[in-house]
Amino acid sequence: MKISGSTILITGASGGIGGAIARQLAQRGATLILVNRDSTRLEAFAAELATSGGKVTALAGDLALPGEPARLARDAIEQAGTIDIVINCAGVQNFGFFAEESAADTATLFNVNTIAPIALVNALLPHMLERGKGQIVNLGSIFGSIGFPCFASYSASKFALRGFSEALRRELAGTGVGVTYVAPRFTKTAFNRSVVTRMADALKMNQDEPESVAASVIATIERDGQESYLGWPEKLFVRINSILPRLVDPSLVKQVDLMRPFATETTR
Ligand SMILES: NC(=O)c1ccc[n+]([C@@H]2O[C@H](COP(=O)([O-])OP(=O)(O)OC[C@H]3O[C@@H](n4cnc5c(N)ncnc54)[C@H](OP(=O)(O)O)[C@@H]3O)[C@@H](O)[C@H]2O)c1
Repeated sequence: MKISGSTILITGASGGIGGAIARQLAQRGATLILVNRDSTRLEAFAAELATSGGKVTALAGDLALPGEPARLARDAIEQAGTIDIVINCAGVQNFGFFAEESAADTATLFNVNTIAPIALVNALLPHMLERGKGQIVNLGSIFGSIGFPCFASYSASKFALRGFSEALRRELAGTGVGVTYVAPRFTKTAFNRSVVTRMADALKMNQDEPESVAASVIATIERDGQESYLGWPEKLFVRINSILPRLVDPSLVKQVDLMRPFATETTR
């Protein structure tokens, strides 16, 4: 879908990847509705983006709370009139041994990463179908295709989002509303706490800058792409894991020993 002239709602808008996406969209002439929790940060960011000439609205809300995604969708439609594209970028991460993870942390993670994007799409979809036009963009992860140790609930939340995206894309075929799933690999943002970054360095994980991830997300939207896995060789590993997961098991099991000191550090 064309970016210039489109009205785009983006969650996680003041985060590392979301912020970079919002900045590039503003430069390309999109009208933006920015969503995240911290209203002070959001207002300041909206004011900064508005200086590049586009119309920018800040809508603060906690996506983990029941009813909030629907409320945000209603407010966004009321304020902007139309929503052409929704980008579900807000996300949280749990890292460590799953036995040590609290039920509350697991619930929050699923609420933000999985339930909220689904609820937001559910609330916006009638509006898009009525217009016969729309693009739903879900930010997943390479870990949403490769179940990664020490990220069990995070991986599961992104597997679910990928499944939702695939099913909905098939359901909406021919309606004018498209679904795009983009899966970044490790990206240098505050999303990864210091211990996760040190672990990624120790495992020699490839790391991207948020600006390059944002450019890939926008390029995928512009070509109405269905799925995009960012990074080489990660996109190859995704394929291998989907066809021959038992082949991948030993190397990831071996990684657990390398991850142990970091995982123990977070759960101590
Ligand atoms: N960074 C990576 O290595 C990486 C790799 C693969 C995929 N991803 C995915 O890319 C997306 C963006 O990641 P990022 O690196 O940009 O993360 P980030 O820098 O930590 O930003 C996360 C954003 O989500 C918002 N958010 C968190 N909880 C929220 C809630 N309950 N309600 C509303 N907003 C909430 C945060 O704002 P507030 O705190 O103000 O609410 C922030 O704007 C996520 O979906 C993530 O899973 C990231």
